[in-house]
Amino acid sequence: GPPGGYRFAVITMSDKGVRGERQDTSGPALRELFEAAGYRFCHYALVADAIPAIVAAVTTAIDRDRADLVLTTGGTGVSPSDVTPEAMDQLFDREIPGIAEAMRAASLAITPQAVLSRGRAGIRGQSLIVNLPGSRKAALENVAAVMAAFPHALDKIK
Ligand code: MTE
Repeated sequence: GPPGGYRFAVITMSDKGVRGERQDTSGPALRELFEAAGYRFCHYALVADAIPAIVAAVTTAIDRDRADLVLTTGGTGVSPSDVTPEAMDQLFDREIPGIAEAMRAASLAITPQAVLSRGRAGIRGQSLIVNLPGSRKAALENVAAVMAAFPHALDKIK
């Protein structure tokens, strides 16, 4: 069905953002896109590239702010500081590999660097979590490839 009523959270992983060295433009862009699509914004956080911080932010979005959909941006690459995919080990009950597969496939048509995103998607409880790359451009391109499947996914995991 249509996404009306589903609540979404945006969590940006960025050491530079936390230190005030970089403005988060990806988080606000994702918020705008999903609000325009009819979802209800319920949570935003900017957190360091650290597994405990990521796990805490996602669980707060789901348990306290009742997010049905959690979009993360950043920390999916291959730098030593990129640990978003590893944090998902502590969060996913079940993985949905096809979402990440489709994002990488669509992104590969745009840039060869698409293969460097290690982003994952999965289910925690009755919530959907999707990892997106960190740049505004990459985050929007990636989510554009899969967001048409989100309403049905959210209907089915309830
Ligand atoms: N996917 C799309 N569609 N467009 C992009 O510009 N950038 C890539 C990749 N995926 C990109 C993309 C790059 S350069 C990297 S390093 C990885 O996403 C991981 O990004 P992250 O470390 O910021 O999460």
